[in-house]
Amino acid sequence: MPREIFDAIQAERRASLRSDFRAILPAPGKPLVLEIGCGNGHFLTAYASAHPEQLCVGIDLRLERTDKALRKRDRANLSNLHFLRCDARNFLLELPAGCVLSDIYILFPDPWPKKRHHKNRLIQADFLIELGARAGKGSRLFFRTDYKPYFDEVREIVAVHPEWRLLPDNTFPFEHLTIFQARAPVYHSLAACRTSSSAQSG
Ligand SMILES: C[S@@+](CC[C@H](N)C(=O)[O-])C[C@H]1O[C@@H](n2cnc3c(N)ncnc32)[C@H](O)[C@@H]1O
Repeated sequence: MPREIFDAIQAERRASLRSDFRAILPAPGKPLVLEIGCGNGHFLTAYASAHPEQLCVGIDLRLERTDKALRKRDRANLSNLHFLRCDARNFLLELPAGCVLSDIYILFPDPWPKKRHHKNRLIQADFLIELGARAGKGSRLFFRTDYKPYFDEVREIVAVHPEWRLLPDNTFPFEHLTIFQARAPVYHSLAACRTSSSAQSG
């Protein structure tokens, strides 16, 4: 795809995201629980139902998945839960100033096993900087995968990252089976905490 068409599509998607944010976010200041790559929304719907006082947003690149997730949300009649079709980096770029992420879940992200595709993996050092920029001090990141080489790579990245610290206890505060978790005979979990706050305000 020619660069100018790609840029135009991205600009349009980001404008649409800004309008979505205006519709779904209350006054800035309420922390968000974010799930990146939420798929059909099983985990976050259960989470939001169990935590009605928390504002939850799930994002996924694939429209058919966020549509299914929205139907699940509506059946459960949850007003504290939203699903948006968008890319994680665009989400972080367009999230209004003053909106701070609290807990962040990334469950079974695409593993991109071939070496030449590793650059497509979601969790990389620069992505953790972008995530950290929108996270408050003490925000937690929960990551789970059944692909051990990806898990080891992320663990190493987080272990030396200046803005995130591995937590000794990788127990998740909430559990609910996702589609990919149900298919995984074995999986690995990691919990990390934001070391200092650079969340934008204003
Ligand atoms: C392997 S699926 C896992 C879905 C769900 N978390 C589960 O455990 O069943 C990974 C999901 O991440 C989404 N995804 C991949 N890259 C993404 C990105 N950059 N931003 C948002 N979602 C993304 C994909 O569309 C896909 O639905």
